[in-house]
Amino acid sequence: MKFFIDTADIDEIEQARSWGILDGVTTNPSLYAKTGGRLADFEPHMQRICELCAGLPVSAETCAKTTDGMIADARHLHSLADNIVVKLPICAESLAATHALAKEGIPVNMTLVFSAPQALLAARAGARYVSPFVGRFDDIGEDGIERLAETVQVLRNYDFGHEVEVITASVRTANHVTQAALLGADIATVPLKTLMQCLAHPLTEQGVAKFDADWEKVKNA
Ligand code: G3P
Repeated sequence: MKFFIDTADIDEIEQARSWGILDGVTTNPSLYAKTGGRLADFEPHMQRICELCAGLPVSAETCAKTTDGMIADARHLHSLADNIVVKLPICAESLAATHALAKEGIPVNMTLVFSAPQALLAARAGARYVSPFVGRFDDIGEDGIERLAETVQVLRNYDFGHEVEVITASVRTANHVTQAALLGADIATVPLKTLMQCLAHPLTEQGVAKFDADWEKVKNA
């Protein structure tokens, strides 16, 4: 499974990149707002991320509400850097925009996907990536992993005539990462905090402490 980082924070992206595990970046308006960034700085900020992650897909989202607006924003965003993937929320307007953008070779990451039919429609329209959300189901007392399993399976059942990858999104825990990998999801986009959770294990910490203590004994023998 490939790892994307779900953040617009440059330091976090640099850290994940230094580990050699990074296959892409996903951002959204909320994640950019969290950095404290202003509208005027948005484009240079995205270009900086794209430079740092040259050759890797970097999702940038538009809040346009019409098909024409989405297409115009997508063309503009894609002109900022070759590796920009345009993120659109699933709806009738974004399906039409995706259909047009796919013909132009502009990749779309269809986001806010919460059902298998939404995922099928996105893939059929030409989306390069489909992003089912997991954690937000858990927030409302439903099982996000069960929904993810349905989406992974239905997309696997068909050849859409172009490459479609599932990005497991709204990932909140290390267990979400485990379950996404067990299901064979292509990608998990994971916040740095959750990547750190994936890295940590109490038995690893205990093991290191024991090795350190025993090495002190060796040094003092
Ligand atoms: O990639 C989408 C993701 O950022 C949503 O995560 O935690 O806001 O549900 P969350």
